[in-house]
Amino acid sequence: KFPDLALTPPMGWNSWNTFACDIDEKLIRETADIMVSSGMRDAGYVYLNLDDCWHGERDADGFIHPDPDRFPSGMKALADYVHQKGLKLGIYSDAGDQTCGGKPGSNGYEYQDALQYARWGIDYLKYDWCNTENLSAHGAYRTMRDALRHAGRPVVFSMCEWGDNQPWLWAQDVGHLWRTTGDIINCWDCEVDHGTWSSWGIMRILDMQQGLRQYAGPGHWNDPDMMEVGNGMSADEDRAHFSLWAMLASPLIAGNDLRQMSPETLAILTNAEVIAVNQDELGVQAFKYKTEGEIEYWFKPLANKSWAFLILNRGDKVAEAEFDFRQEVVVDPDLPLTGNKYAAGFANSRYAIRDLWQQQMKGTTKTPLIVTVQPHSVAMYRLTRIV
Ligand code: DGJ
Repeated sequence: KFPDLALTPPMGWNSWNTFACDIDEKLIRETADIMVSSGMRDAGYVYLNLDDCWHGERDADGFIHPDPDRFPSGMKALADYVHQKGLKLGIYSDAGDQTCGGKPGSNGYEYQDALQYARWGIDYLKYDWCNTENLSAHGAYRTMRDALRHAGRPVVFSMCEWGDNQPWLWAQDVGHLWRTTGDIINCWDCEVDHGTWSSWGIMRILDMQQGLRQYAGPGHWNDPDMMEVGNGMSADEDRAHFSLWAMLASPLIAGNDLRQMSPETLAILTNAEVIAVNQDELGVQAFKYKTEGEIEYWFKPLANKSWAFLILNRGDKVAEAEFDFRQEVVVDPDLPLTGNKYAAGFANSRYAIRDLWQQQMKGTTKTPLIVTVQPHSVAMYRLTRIV
């Protein structure tokens, strides 16, 4: 893979969560325009990613082309437009014979597809896993990685086999990110059963990240799926979802209709201090430090001995949370090699506390932090060492 890409989690937008197969070049151009005018690009969202169903047919030589009715100007023109805006263009394919949406897959055409994407100027590839009954995941994803490298254009390689083959164990040098679960859906804590597969609410996806944090790092990230911020949950739920994805060092790929977005949704997606937690150069995923009923306390080690700290109220009732830092010894449970670097002796050193949603200082770790946390919401802080 291209080693110096995605040293922090990729940020961008993807068409699937809102538009599914109903995409065309007008939508993509309008989305590019808004990514710039809304400030999203400048907040870090640079990848504009097409998902399934952009495809037309292969030509007589086997080269893939976009659907001529939906993309009449062609992919090269679309990539040029997106690049002029200071953005990057992502595309989608599938390791099998057909995509999940029934379009041509890349099986047997990997090198040709990678070459075509490079000619168009594609910067990111999401590679799905439908219709792959006789393939090995490790082999199929390595083949496409090699094909991309051979085509020569740097491409972020996003693996989407839903965690079925435990990619965290083998994909560090194959993909820049790998999905860890089935599909997300815009609800707090539900499972939606589609017969042969399910989609999962925010809390369910969160719980499925257990045990995976040690496999993520600069250039290779766990992907708990694209975001549902702005797609119908409450503002508190959206803030919690965004904060948790930031803590998880997840790729931040928005999945809402940017053309219809409320000021509140934009404010959530562009909170620079929360984004900075996600994009921190250490690239270490958060861990759950403790649980008290419906309340969870999460820590994420940051550069310069700082920490991000999050209090989650999963429940339906307002909760009073109290955290007495001086009584707690917070040690990174999965990174013994890093030793004391990630052990916070809150009894011996003091940290300034900044609330990242209220954007205010909240004293120091010398006194207990007492906070009211609304149902289905979070409080999120940055702790900066002072003595
Ligand atoms: C399954 C993936 O998990 C989704 O994110 C999306 O890419 C669809 N396939 C497209 O068919």
